[in-house]
Amino acid sequence: MTRPATDSSRPAATPPAGTAPRRTPAKPPPVRWWERPWILPLALFSAAFLLFAVPPYLSLDPADSRLPVPESPSWYFPALVVHVFGGALITLLVILQVWPWLRTRHPAVHRWSGRVYVLAGLPLVGVPAVLVAPFGEAGASAQISGLVWAALWSAFTVLGYVMARRRRFAAHREWMLRSFALVYGIAFNRVLHVLLLVITAPRVDTVHGGDFEAMSLDLGAASGFLSWILPLLFVEWWLQYRKPRRRARQR
Ligand code: HEM
Repeated sequence: MTRPATDSSRPAATPPAGTAPRRTPAKPPPVRWWERPWILPLALFSAAFLLFAVPPYLSLDPADSRLPVPESPSWYFPALVVHVFGGALITLLVILQVWPWLRTRHPAVHRWSGRVYVLAGLPLVGVPAVLVAPFGEAGASAQISGLVWAALWSAFTVLGYVMARRRRFAAHREWMLRSFALVYGIAFNRVLHVLLLVITAPRVDTVHGGDFEAMSLDLGAASGFLSWILPLLFVEWWLQYRKPRRRARQR
């Protein structure tokens, strides 16, 4: 294994007389919670979303499902239920993974919850999402959106895991942030759909002949795509522009 650039376990060598002592780079100051003010709102938003999204599926009765359940294939509803419960688990794990205090103080917890996120998330969330997406009753556009979203989430998650195994931690963080952004697509979708309904409501007569249901279905496809594309763009902006600027300021 290569030795890290600064190895604090070895006594510092005495510099030869007449030369200035070599400076070790200053350790970054510990992250205090008020420097990451988003963690509490994110946790509250996640909890509120789960309290809204999960209860209809606890009865295991297709009649209670928020999504219309197609008659065929017969495994659609079981796969959707697995997806919803798995989704609840990974939503909670994302909070643990992005919580700076936990990451720095308890790295072992970060590693284990990360393993659960990947190894339970892929079979319980990603695979069922790929399976149910082509059978959703919200139309072809929503089906395509769901399929691409599920495939991207699975790919980003696998890439994040592979990078961690190869100890390429900068790349690991980037892929995992993309994966986390896509997890929030589902919660963002609910907010966005309502927002689009409010914005376009004045056009319900001219565009949809006064049929509010048709307008809602139509907007479902737009909010479906936007709900994972916008969080992904936000993460790309943060990785490309925000983070390098903050690092430069710290230096
Ligand atoms: C990680 C990325 C995720 C992807 C790619 C994904 C994809 C999908 C797809 C394709 C559907 C079916 C839509 C349809 O048939 O029209 C769906 C439904 C659903 N997903 Fe996810 N999902 C993800 C994360 C989550 C998470 C984290 C939760 C949290 C509980 C969740 C909860 C649900 C629920 C509750 C439904 C049924 C719709 C409803 O009751 O409103 N999903 N998801």
